Amino acid sequence: MRIAILPDDATIGKVAADLIEELYREKPNAVLGLATGSSPLSIYRELIERHQAGKLSFKEGKAFMLDEYVGIAADHPERYRNVIHTEIASHVDFPEGCVNGPDGNAEDLHAACAAYDQSIKDAGGVDLQILGIGSDGHIAFNEPGESLTCRTHVGVLTEQTRRDNARFFDGDIDQVPTHCVTQGLGTIMDARRLVLVAQGKGKARAIKELVEGAVSAKWPATIMQMHQDAWVLVDEEAASELE
Ligand code: F6R
Repeated sequence: MRIAILPDDATIGKVAADLIEELYREKPNAVLGLATGSSPLSIYRELIERHQAGKLSFKEGKAFMLDEYVGIAADHPERYRNVIHTEIASHVDFPEGCVNGPDGNAEDLHAACAAYDQSIKDAGGVDLQILGIGSDGHIAFNEPGESLTCRTHVGVLTEQTRRDNARFFDGDIDQVPTHCVTQGLGTIMDARRLVLVAQGKGKARAIKELVEGAVSAKWPATIMQMHQDAWVLVDEEAASELE
């Protein structure tokens, strides 16, 4: 893994966007993996700016989201598909229908998960996967204790994650869905490059485990140590527990 401790969130966004810009310059039809939550927002702002300045185009590209809540209303602003539309997809030029997400409202969720994995494969796999990390070390919604090799599946959100995400639901944990569909760690590890970003003290313990801990399902992100091209971009607060 390559670890960079950067001065602030804006710099994290710029460095990650440089990697994405480089990818699309070399491979205009690249497949980008998108994360939701606050961590990637500085990346998305940077990508939108570069797109608007004519420096970056996704017009031959495709994207796959990491995860989605189960049972959230189709028009709920916190439905991840809607968040991705608002934060990035509606501002850049991915072709219509080329930003994909797992379907948390499918009648047969398990079949939908298998179909999602297949659609990633059919697209040639993810070239660069953007990741955030939960304070409990989850990536996507792979919570502690889950298989280190699983594919897209239905998951249960821990109380810690629901508490962390209550800020997006009027501060009310009861409004946060209890289940999700998420790419598994095996799916994520298939991406050709991983770029994880983390900001703030709340992520310091998880970053310490990711960088210095043993690979363990207790801290799911540690599986990234086994990836041949993984980047970890953090600010000083998130790096504050590193030795
Ligand atoms: C979201 C996702 C999650 C978040 C993580 C951190 O698609 O996959 O793993 O990256 O929960 O969330 P934030 O960035 O809001 O701190």
